[in-house]
Amino acid sequence: MPRPAVQPDDGILVVQNLTKRFGRALVLDGISMAIEEGKTTAVIGPSGCGKTVFMKHLIVLERPTEGQVFFRGQRIDQLDEKKLAGIRTRFGFCFQMSALFDSLTVYENIVFPVRQHVKVINEKALDKLVKQKLAMVGMDGYQQHYPAELSGGQRKRVALARAIALNPEVILYDEPTTGLDPVTSDVINELIIKLQRELKITSVVVTHDMNSAYKIADRIVMLHKGKIIADGDAEHIRNHPNDLVQQFIQGKVGQAELAALRLGGTRLETQFTPDDFR
Ligand SMILES: Nc1ncnc2c1ncn2[C@@H]1O[C@H](COP(=O)(O)OP(=O)(O)OP(=O)(O)O)[C@@H](O)[C@H]1O
Ligand SMILES: [Mg+2]
Repeated sequence: MPRPAVQPDDGILVVQNLTKRFGRALVLDGISMAIEEGKTTAVIGPSGCGKTVFMKHLIVLERPTEGQVFFRGQRIDQLDEKKLAGIRTRFGFCFQMSALFDSLTVYENIVFPVRQHVKVINEKALDKLVKQKLAMVGMDGYQQHYPAELSGGQRKRVALARAIALNPEVILYDEPTTGLDPVTSDVINELIIKLQRELKITSVVVTHDMNSAYKIADRIVMLHKGKIIADGDAEHIRNHPNDLVQQFIQGKVGQAELAALRLGGTRLETQFTPDDFR
């Protein structure tokens, strides 16, 4: 057997030969990588390439079809849900649909994970914690607001404050800037950088926002057809020789996709008219 490309201790999070199938669809095809502690790693790639699925494996919200996942050298992909719950308290999540609870105030949203994991006796200490976490994201004073009263960017900031409520060692962000205007996106980018610098948190950020990836990431990993096709710092990715990487970072459609679209175009010419339904 050849030695695996990465060892369990090579990073705070390590995946070895990570393979995921949904039925016959192969989404992750033997990915091996080690995520370095205290750094920000961005995972990029086209829609549907498996970024979210990859990220879910890091905290075993999905179980690998083959391969292994390690956190601080410990294999976690086979742990039962109870043990996983303990491990997950050491992570913060800001997921794609980072839904705050609409019926709870900002305050209650942030204390929610705390109450889940700690028996809270000192309510005053909670007030302090919420104030401190909200201040971190520039949202102190919004404690009694409901999510519906906040803008999209403010909601993401509250979600971030909630993600850091339990002082996580790792934060996983899924598309943190999607749907935000460029200025608000930049506020989120700056917050991600600040959390990493001030709290020494390891961050994994799934994104297709290249501006964000260049700005925040120490390392950028691109997925394509279930495999890593590029891996390096912003400079390395910008100058990458692979056409697929260049097409993606420049936001261009590839030749194959273009040909398929044009082919589709001829079929579109036979459009329905209201008469067809009479
Ligand atoms: N629970 C599931 N069951 C079946 N197929 C799934 C499941 N979750 C994801 N998939 C499939 O896996 C593939 C990768 O999905 P994933 O959500 O990881 O894409 P993504 O790269 O995050 O895309 P996007 O940028 O649009 O968020 C898709 O084809 C998706 O349909
Ligand atoms: Mg996704």
